Amino acid sequence: MSTQKAKVETEEQAETEEKPSAERRLEKKRAKAKERAEKVKADEKADFEENAVQIKVFRYDPEVAAKQEPRFDDFHVPYEKGMTVLDAVIYARDHYDSSLTFRHSCRQAVCGSDAFFINGRQQLACKTQLGDLEEPVRIEPLPHQDVVKDLVVDMDHFYDQMHAVEPYFQSEDTPDSSELEEQRQTRENREKIKMSSRCIWCAACMSSCNIAAGDNDYLGPAAINKAYKFAMDDREEEELKQHRLNILEQEHGVWRCQTQFSCTEVCPKDIPLTEHIQELKREAVKNNLKFW
Ligand code: SF4
Ligand code: FES
Repeated sequence: MSTQKAKVETEEQAETEEKPSAERRLEKKRAKAKERAEKVKADEKADFEENAVQIKVFRYDPEVAAKQEPRFDDFHVPYEKGMTVLDAVIYARDHYDSSLTFRHSCRQAVCGSDAFFINGRQQLACKTQLGDLEEPVRIEPLPHQDVVKDLVVDMDHFYDQMHAVEPYFQSEDTPDSSELEEQRQTRENREKIKMSSRCIWCAACMSSCNIAAGDNDYLGPAAINKAYKFAMDDREEEELKQHRLNILEQEHGVWRCQTQFSCTEVCPKDIPLTEHIQELKREAVKNNLKFW
């Protein structure tokens, strides 16, 4: 056998002997990776168990026989710093029960669609930090409103009251559209009505109001605040102001308010609702004063 041939044969032999050891190394690697993955999973599970927050969510569905009896469902959601109540409810829906129903949209306290009764107080779920609440966190639909399903309430009555005060600008003193002129108001007037224009129609105030709960026709704090915005706008004529005060002075208008401040306390936009109602009461009195 030539030396060259012997060398080739030795190399081939070495290769076949190495193969099983390479496989062994691969197997070892795979086992280690599996072990690591299992450890990560176990750590995550331990983290979850340690950091999970218990939420109790109101459930009711008139269309499903088994769910017609109102009840609370418990969910455990993993907590992360900065998590809001809305995040928790979304987690519960996405991971545990896709039939859990609630409204939300902007997730930044702008659309007003996710006002719930959280731990006994009307609050926007997207604005309320889970970490600030006592456990278990109780999440219910807004009180004093008909429940459509789970956390969704019927807002029709609230919207009717809002529209009853004609919440739109009606001045006839508008510039000719061809002039492309802005209809300006004074800075002072802007400051005066600024807060009232922040309303996002969430209905938290209406739901917190004892008077509204007992008198279905009461216009309610949100609608009165909306009327305030226009009645106090100096771009509308005096005649229109009178018209608005007439709406507000009616039997179920401003005089129903008993100055309990509950609306002001829950308003997520910090609108001084009770103050606005009191001011309108004073305007209504002035409106009716007659001097002989
Ligand atoms: S006044 Fe405040 S609480 Fe009432 S509907 Fe508007 S934003 Fe919501
Ligand atoms: S989701 Fe829009 S106000 Fe909360």
